[in-house]
Amino acid sequence: MSGIDRRDLLVAGATVALGSLFSPVPAASQTKLLRRNVATMAPDDPILESYRRAIVAMRGLPPSDPRNWTRQAQIHRDICPHGNWFFLPWHRAYLVAFERICRQLSGDANFALPYWDWTANPQLPAVFASPQWKGSANPLFDSSRISQTVTIPTNVSGVTVIASILAESNFEDFASTRPSGQNDTKPVWQRRWGISGPLESNPHNQVHVRVGGNMGQVPTGALDPIFWLHHCNVDRLWDQWNRQGRANTNDLLWSKFEFTNQFVVPAASGSAPFNVSVDGLLDIGSLGYQYAPDIHSLREFGKTLLRRPIDLSGRVQFSSLSNIPPARINVPLNMPVILTQQQSISLERIRPEQISLEELIQFQKGGEQRQSAGRVVAVIRNIDPPKSGNAEVRVFVNCPYLGPDVPPEDRHYAGAFTFFGTDHAGHGEDKPSYLIDLTDTILRIRQGQPNVYDQINVQLMPVALPGGQKEGVEFRPGSVDVAII
Ligand code: C2O
Repeated sequence: MSGIDRRDLLVAGATVALGSLFSPVPAASQTKLLRRNVATMAPDDPILESYRRAIVAMRGLPPSDPRNWTRQAQIHRDICPHGNWFFLPWHRAYLVAFERICRQLSGDANFALPYWDWTANPQLPAVFASPQWKGSANPLFDSSRISQTVTIPTNVSGVTVIASILAESNFEDFASTRPSGQNDTKPVWQRRWGISGPLESNPHNQVHVRVGGNMGQVPTGALDPIFWLHHCNVDRLWDQWNRQGRANTNDLLWSKFEFTNQFVVPAASGSAPFNVSVDGLLDIGSLGYQYAPDIHSLREFGKTLLRRPIDLSGRVQFSSLSNIPPARINVPLNMPVILTQQQSISLERIRPEQISLEELIQFQKGGEQRQSAGRVVAVIRNIDPPKSGNAEVRVFVNCPYLGPDVPPEDRHYAGAFTFFGTDHAGHGEDKPSYLIDLTDTILRIRQGQPNVYDQINVQLMPVALPGGQKEGVEFRPGSVDVAII
């Protein structure tokens, strides 16, 4: 680093300097299969042909065989964790087991799941959209989708959104938090609610409900062949986050958690249980696969990589509001949080992100320093989810003219989430919660809004999803916290 001129770093572009922030992918070995971007595949790419064969074979197995297509989807219906820190590792194990079954039943020893990169290619991949393939029914097609040309909007999976997700340095902010109250590794915690971070609540949940049909609901999600490519991309983003030098939590309540008798993998006699603990899922190379580095996105993502870390362990100040009325589709809900004088002073100190050369070097060494970060986050807690229907819930701050037509490009917009997995049993008494980072919005609006220092009005604007219910969708947040870090 010392040989690099400061001007090169700052002017010649983050791209040059930041390229080296990413550790190279370990050299390929014969046992590590490459999961590839479906957009780079011809319709008859051998991988897609193998996937089609595997699907047909799985659908043809008797229901008594756990590799049967419907049986595989029932695993998701019955035990998938959402809204907590088991979300990423559990779905990783689910993909690994499924991929091995595909390998066995397609007869293609080199089969690795493709991924759908909804950032670079926001439209449902065309090979999944046509009912026919080579003169018969296309195994990748699912007629239940809302449309076959679903396109994921920029405020869900665009470069800026994904960059900001990848810029999180705290595992639980990135990957959703521990279930609230977890104090041992008993299986019951698998489906208890924590706080969903933006990766899960925005792109993950929204892609589900925007594809809709089977994909739109937990019990049927994995019946749609695109499910596996969607989750492969979520898994890829986790891997990319790790390759940026971000560490998973070392909390034993997470790493020692076991998934026992939940998955099966091929065996000589058909199949055998695949039992694994979270710490057995952290090295994808040892699980037998890898992702190609995403060069295109790294260039874009580099721009925001220097964001300071959220440190939820210290200097957090909360203001809270409860007794919140229900939110209804197309009606803005205001949740004004009054700040104490001390809190408004912390807020005033938040400044646009700038980072010194020294800090950049620290960053590159992985030695990020937890200095006063200057971030503001809202946690919308214990939501009674909609009893019927769903909505995209856009979050704004202090917008004087908020209405359903105010677009995500508006300067008061902060983020979005949607409900997924809130409609099935098994969560105990707790309810879902969502974390939204307000920092960039506050930085934008504070010029010209002197009162931002006294009151943060966290506003929810639930809007209809394409093809979704247009009215009668109602939910109720239990409380909202604003944390100044
Ligand atoms: Cu368990 Cu994307 O869902």
